[in-house]
Amino acid sequence: MSVLAIDFGTSRIKAAYWDEAKGEAVVLPLGKGGRLYVPSLFHVSRDGKIRFGDEAEVMLHNDPQGVIENLKLNQDKTIQYLRESQKVNTSDLMSLLFGRIIDYASSQIPAFVGQAPETVVLTMPSRWDFSDIYTDALKSIGYKGEKIVIREPVAAGLAWIEEKKPQVGDMLVVLDFGGGTVDWACLCIDEKGRPGMIAELPPGSVTAAGAHVDAGLLDEMMLRIGEEQRKEVQQRRALVQEQIRQMKESQNGRASLSGDEGFLEVQLGSDPFIFPREVFESIVCRTAVDQAVEGIGRYIKKVAGTARERNKDLWWVMAGGTRLLVGLEEKVKERIMEIGKESGVAMHVASIAQADFATVRGAVLRGVPTRQINVEVKSQLVYRLVS
Ligand SMILES: Nc1ncnc2c1ncn2[C@@H]1O[C@H](COP(=O)(O)OP(=O)(O)OP(=O)(O)O)[C@@H](O)[C@H]1O
Ligand SMILES: [Mg+2]
Repeated sequence: MSVLAIDFGTSRIKAAYWDEAKGEAVVLPLGKGGRLYVPSLFHVSRDGKIRFGDEAEVMLHNDPQGVIENLKLNQDKTIQYLRESQKVNTSDLMSLLFGRIIDYASSQIPAFVGQAPETVVLTMPSRWDFSDIYTDALKSIGYKGEKIVIREPVAAGLAWIEEKKPQVGDMLVVLDFGGGTVDWACLCIDEKGRPGMIAELPPGSVTAAGAHVDAGLLDEMMLRIGEEQRKEVQQRRALVQEQIRQMKESQNGRASLSGDEGFLEVQLGSDPFIFPREVFESIVCRTAVDQAVEGIGRYIKKVAGTARERNKDLWWVMAGGTRLLVGLEEKVKERIMEIGKESGVAMHVASIAQADFATVRGAVLRGVPTRQINVEVKSQLVYRLVS
């Protein structure tokens, strides 16, 4: 049995596969130097050659006007426009993305023995339905195996269920803080050990996440620099945006050899721009934290109501790269605990291994046809994981 999952994120593309010998979902490193993911960037040269991931990232330096960012959230547009009047079909970009990853997996994963996987699982956010676009892309590359599409927070929930082996009736809420969206979903473990949705608690999301913080910081910087520098930034916008993203990610208190964590500096030629800390923090709050806490807060209240009726505790799992955004996790946890107190429901914030990759690892589990039941039910059942 060969299963490959692809998580096309707004910021990062990830892949994972089912390792039969280990009996677990394993991340397939896609990037240069063993980096587990590649950036969600595409590049189209003037003569129409398409690149993505690391190769497209390099082009931020060489040909920034040919780089496409945020394709995931613009997939519904059939044509993408770049520089002057150049166009590229979205379907060509998607076909290349899936085709290259499937080929790479076939060549890198020994158990695939050079063949395309029998099952490909693709993830999509709570609010949009990309299944037609994904199906067309797989068709155009001639993929003949089974195709499964799963909602991202449901996939992350599967990874947690596999790890923590909860009990029948347990209720779990997944919060996935991504690059483009913060998604949430509530799952309940049924008698057969399957994670199911609760009809009155449909998944939801806000479009206020990592990329919105980056864009907010860039806009603010543009207001604060001179005319000359502004022109320069306009020429190399994607590259500067990338620098801002790295600066944002260095703010979570983790030390590094370069020792530049905590600096709010963006290099513009020889002249750095330095964000005043209070400006940086207010943009982070305005563009992501406040929106996420408000949206999640409303959902928590609803979920807590259902948990109280069912006399259940609530488990919380946080996944996705933006959970590391300075101040975010603490504020969300605070809100969860407050509502727990108000509503009399015990709240447990759980941790999960490789939380940035929970979605893609969980998606693999969705594709594995029969697995030993992993919740505490008396009889030994074999079940099919469904979303
Ligand atoms: N240490 C960090 N501090 C703050 N933000 C971070 C950190 N590490 C990663 N991020 C942010 O996390 C985001 C990427 O997370 P993730 O890979 O979960 O998103 P994605 O799957 O690409 O997006 P989505 O699920 O919304 O489509 C980026 O915006 C990135 O800047
Ligand atoms: Mg994601």
